[in-house]
Amino acid sequence: MTTERPLPLRLTQELTDKELFVQNSGIVNFQFVPDRPDGNLTIAETGKHIPFPIERAYWINSLKAREAVRGKHAHKELEQVIVCVNGSFRLHLDDGTTQQDIVMDTPKIGIRLGAMLWHEMTNFSPDCVILVLASAPYNEADYIRSYDEFINTLTEEIKA
Ligand code: TYD
Repeated sequence: MTTERPLPLRLTQELTDKELFVQNSGIVNFQFVPDRPDGNLTIAETGKHIPFPIERAYWINSLKAREAVRGKHAHKELEQVIVCVNGSFRLHLDDGTTQQDIVMDTPKIGIRLGAMLWHEMTNFSPDCVILVLASAPYNEADYIRSYDEFINTLTEEIKA
């Protein structure tokens, strides 16, 4: 018997949070200024687009290995917004109950990665560049890097 996997969500301007089935996530529509023939400009402002004061930004490139995988963790408290500023990748989200895959292929739309949301990134195009805006400085103690621990932590939160 084959298990049916839902089709990955495609990012479009019409998309709303209703199409995101996972908890602790959301669609972020950035301000977009087409500046042809001199390129495009996309803007993220705290308060308008980013639901937290940005305390850290990091970006990921050089994703040429076909088998490259990033993420594979959740955060206890950190809030982030992830955006594919160039190329494309597959974002896998898992809130412990529901899983959803998203094709990240536009710099105009970001995805909110709230606390306690397991996320994995794969299927990078060779030219992929990812930008992440975060609510706090780097803190390894905020990471949950084991999926079993993630599920156990959620179960304990429900019990408490
Ligand atoms: P990690 O967050 O696991 O990367 P990703 O989610 O993109 O797969 O981080 C990889 C390594 O980089 C890890 O050793 C921690 C370090 N790191 C920092 O020192 N500061 C940071 O802001 C980040 C995001 C990672």
